[in-house]
Amino acid sequence: MNAKERLIVSLDFPDIQKAQSLRDLLKDDVLFYKIGLQMFLRYGFQIVNEWKNFGKKVFLDLKLSDIPNTVSSAIRTLSVLEVDMINMHALSGYDCMRMAAETAKEVIPESKLIAVTVLTSFTDKGLQEIGIPHSPAGEVKTLCKIAKKAGLSGVVSSPWEANSVKNICGEDFITVCPGIRRSTDAIGDQARIMTPSKAIKNGADYLVVGRPIIKASDPKEAAISILKEIENAIQ
Ligand code: C5P
Repeated sequence: MNAKERLIVSLDFPDIQKAQSLRDLLKDDVLFYKIGLQMFLRYGFQIVNEWKNFGKKVFLDLKLSDIPNTVSSAIRTLSVLEVDMINMHALSGYDCMRMAAETAKEVIPESKLIAVTVLTSFTDKGLQEIGIPHSPAGEVKTLCKIAKKAGLSGVVSSPWEANSVKNICGEDFITVCPGIRRSTDAIGDQARIMTPSKAIKNGADYLVVGRPIIKASDPKEAAISILKEIENAIQ
């Protein structure tokens, strides 16, 4: 995969006009976009269809989590959208991931169903507060094994864990990594961050980037500089 195929820009905007302006500005640079809860709750199927009609790839980041039948039914409902990537929480458990993976293979065979392991905003302390006695790295190791066994295509983790996910689950198991920051970017609420170049070298297949591009004074310059970093790291 080339650099352009590996960068996913996160459309974390309050309204669609801002997202459309960004898409126009980056029309020759960015191919893959992430549509998350903020946009999907307001614009629903319309925004996904619009992005697909513009020839863009879409990662629908709804982080589904519920009982197996409900998650599987939600995937069936979303199947008309033909998104390229969709996700659920690994903490929904093996049975839920297994049923979701079977449904996805049936109704969206071209899409990748991936599991969120530990959110990139979590630290050891945050996990302990909710009763998980492992470090994020340890918990990601446990959850990626279960996701792989359940038949998912890959996981979302921080770039710090991408290497161990590849070692445990194999090169073909996809690693999608938010928490990407260049050395000059503000960290914000993320905790387990890495630069684009280090993330690629540490095993990240896809980099999810929001604020370093969408809040930049010059988003085009920011996207191009991140693409260049990815390109240099691939070589
Ligand atoms: O602005 P920033 O680059 O931090 O955006 C990261 C994006 O990735 C956000 O849309 C966030 O919801 C998403 N995400 C994440 N951590 C995960 C899964 C998704 O930050 N584990």
